[in-house]
Amino acid sequence: MKIAFFSSQPYDKVFFDKYNRNFQLEYYETALDKNIVNVLNNTEVVCVFVNDKLNGEVIELLHEKGVKIIALRCAGFNNVDLETAKRLNIAVCRVPAYSPEAVAEHTMAMLLTINRKTHKAYNRVREQNFSLNGLLGFNLHGKTIGVIGTGKIGKAFMNIVKGFGCNILAYDLFPDKALIDQGINYVSLETLLKQSDIISLHCPLTPQNHYMINAEALLQMKNGVTIINTSRGGLIHTIDVIEALKSKKVGALCIDVYEQEEKLFFKDLSENIIEDDTIQRLMSFPNVLITAHQAFFTEEALSEIAQVTLDSIGKISNGKMAKNAEVMLA
Ligand code: NAI
Repeated sequence: MKIAFFSSQPYDKVFFDKYNRNFQLEYYETALDKNIVNVLNNTEVVCVFVNDKLNGEVIELLHEKGVKIIALRCAGFNNVDLETAKRLNIAVCRVPAYSPEAVAEHTMAMLLTINRKTHKAYNRVREQNFSLNGLLGFNLHGKTIGVIGTGKIGKAFMNIVKGFGCNILAYDLFPDKALIDQGINYVSLETLLKQSDIISLHCPLTPQNHYMINAEALLQMKNGVTIINTSRGGLIHTIDVIEALKSKKVGALCIDVYEQEEKLFFKDLSENIIEDDTIQRLMSFPNVLITAHQAFFTEEALSEIAQVTLDSIGKISNGKMAKNAEVMLA
């Protein structure tokens, strides 16, 4: 059985080749869209990542090519038209929990970096500039951190935050009873926005919460709030946040995801002219930290992604339910 990988990077090949026993693997650097489907030949499985576009039209074309399984080597699945896949009887699997800690740890790394300005200190000291001016941060101890989405990653992040002595306010559509028993304080979204010094997003992107951080939400927040988004770019209305950065309503912004990231992230564009003026504006702020969808990127996570994806594909093709990967539609 052949698996075609799209948006593949050298590290995908390293980890999938390492764990593959049963399949023929074909790697394409290009993202999956309607123009590339023609390369498929006798391929029953496509393996895709966060920025591959699997809308209805693409899934119809995959179906015509005989594709039976769409394997997402990531957790989020907002880029897949699940209804069309279901109608065409194409199985879709993902890796729901490859390493929540990897994302949670990166979230804390971003928060510490933007707050204590270690990225600036590193460069300064290398230039023999030992001045502290401009590097002032604040203690995380005693601050209130609002966590939106208390699933696997939100939970892992709250565990880290507890160690820093922060107060936690949580918001989720479905509060977790076990977390309440552990003393986690669930509040309304409005209360979280009003009372948090730092707000971290850990919910999936859905049609209901698209742009949940918009001008109206920003108005409710504390002056100088720090916002961190390691979930999905579409949760934040970027233009509204830029206005809030300009007015100093937002004191700092850390993003590992960006609405238009498919045109930028995972590519070396250092020789190119970037046409996206919004990200250029964001990059011009001294209090904005951007990483390029890197939060998942640990050895442990890549090993788990490769093993679970290959395992799920094997189990789906044998008509068995996957063990760890959640088969959403089979
Ligand atoms: P999860 O499914 O374990 O938890 C998500 C939580 O969000 C659930 O408790 C759910 O009830 C809640 N939720 C859903 N809609 C909500 C809303 N409108 N408001 C508040 N809460 C809401 O998911 P997990 O594993 O914690 O991942 C969260 C997100 O992180 C993923 O959907 C994905 O977008 C993102 N992610 C980012 C990565 C990166 O490298 N930057 C890597 C992996 C995931």
